[in-house]
Amino acid sequence: MNYKICLLPGDGIGPEVIASARDVLTALPLQWDFIECGIGYREYQRSGSPLPDSTIRQIRRADAALFGAVTTPPNIPNYFSPVVRMRQSLDLYANLRPIRSIPHPASRAGIDLLIVRENTEGLYAGIERMEDDGNRAVTERVITRKGSERIVRKALDMARQTGRKTVHVVHKANVLRQTCGLFRAVALEIAKDYPDITMNEMLVDTCAMELVRAPEQFEVIVTTNLFGDILSDEACMFVGGLGVAASGNFGADAAVFEPVHGSAPALAGTGKANPTAAILASAMLLDHLGEKGQAIRLRNAVESCIADGQATPDLGGVLTTSQMTQQVIQRLI
Ligand code: NAI
Ligand code: MG
Repeated sequence: MNYKICLLPGDGIGPEVIASARDVLTALPLQWDFIECGIGYREYQRSGSPLPDSTIRQIRRADAALFGAVTTPPNIPNYFSPVVRMRQSLDLYANLRPIRSIPHPASRAGIDLLIVRENTEGLYAGIERMEDDGNRAVTERVITRKGSERIVRKALDMARQTGRKTVHVVHKANVLRQTCGLFRAVALEIAKDYPDITMNEMLVDTCAMELVRAPEQFEVIVTTNLFGDILSDEACMFVGGLGVAASGNFGADAAVFEPVHGSAPALAGTGKANPTAAILASAMLLDHLGEKGQAIRLRNAVESCIADGQATPDLGGVLTTSQMTQQVIQRLI
């Protein structure tokens, strides 16, 4: 069977790291149909839209999509964020970020954490206004039972699938009594359906502190949109930083995998972009397709490459993007 994958290279180093991911996937004993689609500023200059409807249709039709990064251009009146629009159009409600130690001095040891962030509501629901002649700004925070239920189930299902025993629901229900109160109540309620998993709760400020103190205590964290955005950026710095951090966005009928980093315009064309984040995003894509064996093989190849010092400058190495990609491919044994 051929897997149909929608490639969304985007801007800056996006096309470079997506080319790496594609080369690595092609080296595996699987059959692929890749379809390349436009997204971002270059696409806007070409077609007038940073996210054409045709791109959304292709992502929906594919088994999964692999997204590079986009550049946010300076103030253009009719420009919209294609990343936010993509998440909304496809209802990609779950953003998953694995935080896993790598064999490198820049990484702390013993960490294997999955952060599950709600991706469509909370403070990023997009309900904002100015009042009092521009002297009062208001953003509404929306939390729904349905939205909370599906993200909590996703976290518990992922814990089960990966053999983890605990999930932390992270909130601020002592202050945000309505919104976080609902999120917390739903989490504790849904957890009763998963007697094999222990649901712990933690306030978000305590969690930010505990992550720095002892990140290895966490297996899965499930939280609302803004908290998840901040905690996942914080946590990726314990395990090698942006060059190696990958994520996946999941909806009911679409899945989009991506490196966490942006388009790093200053690195574009220099060959210095670390392809690891995009390659590890492909490993998440393999998991999603049910190709667990190939995903493990790929992660092992990346780890061995990094442990041998065969890496780009951000990890202290001297290799270019494509040289490091070739090193990963050679280790796919
Ligand atoms: P960035 O992630 O592009 O870069 C931050 C820093 O990390 C830079 O020093 C960069 O050189 C380094 N870096 C990033 N990826 C790397 C890699 N693969 N290998 C080695 N070093 C790497 O974030 P920044 O500079 O804030 O934003 C640049 C552009 O990207 C902006 O237009 C921003 O809006 C956009 N952006 C897009 C995202 C997306 O498409 N999902 C996410 C974040 C930013
Ligand atoms: Mg972020």
